[in-house]
Amino acid sequence: MSNPIAVFDSGLGGLSVARHLRSTLPNEEIVYFGDTARVPYGIKSRPTVAHFALEIARYLLEFEPKLMVAACNTASALALDALIDGLPVPVVGVVEPGARAAVELAAGGTIAVIGTEATIGCGAYRAAIESFSPGARVIARACPLFVPLVEEGRGCDDAIVRAVAEDYLSPLRQQNVRVVVLGCTHYPLLREAIAATLGPDVHIVDSGEQTARVVSATLAELGCLSTGAPAGTMRCYVSDNPQRFQQVGSRFLGHTIEHVEYVPPERYITTPVIPGLLR
Ligand code: DGL
Repeated sequence: MSNPIAVFDSGLGGLSVARHLRSTLPNEEIVYFGDTARVPYGIKSRPTVAHFALEIARYLLEFEPKLMVAACNTASALALDALIDGLPVPVVGVVEPGARAAVELAAGGTIAVIGTEATIGCGAYRAAIESFSPGARVIARACPLFVPLVEEGRGCDDAIVRAVAEDYLSPLRQQNVRVVVLGCTHYPLLREAIAATLGPDVHIVDSGEQTARVVSATLAELGCLSTGAPAGTMRCYVSDNPQRFQQVGSRFLGHTIEHVEYVPPERYITTPVIPGLLR
């Protein structure tokens, strides 16, 4: 069996990224860790998110991955540098792929980014967009209620989802937005409601989808794509409640999740690896 791609998230949302990885790279083995004991990351501070992300990523090294994907937008936004510095394997986050695709699609027009409080608050998407397009007009908006609404199983036609989308996104209608970046793992499940609120002229970028392309290109560059191998499998590991992960997660993945295993804290909890990381 070839070395897997390791994917991690604060919980089950990263399965929306794994879904694209599986369809783009069907021969790859995937090992996924959802930190369901400590979700959400989207309201936590950078030191805490960086510490959690490093713990999970270091645990995943046991599987000898050829590449690590930080599927969580919050972890990518707050901790990508710490992950790259702290891990001996290539790490791909979701922020840069989403930002790059948005810049290409916007062709100089206004880009809106939506995500968790932490992702929006740290300005990572804005910085990535500006690095590809200096002086770009970027509007950033936290939409925290979208995460619990999706986890509760509410879909795009739900009246509460529509009302919340209207509340968060209607101010963007006056801003001549050309592209909106779905900067959170849960938002692709509300894609139609977001599109309906913003109107037909706004392009939507799913960071997870773009990330799968970058992972594919990176593996090709490194010469370690699994081609011609049998269909890859996916094994999931969680820090709490595997039953809920399996039930709710299948909506994110697009099909049934076969293998979910609970990982007890002593397998991944460590003391802070960066001095002064936890306050
Ligand atoms: N996975 C997180 C993200 O993409 C959303 C859930 C959370 O707040 O942990 O930002």
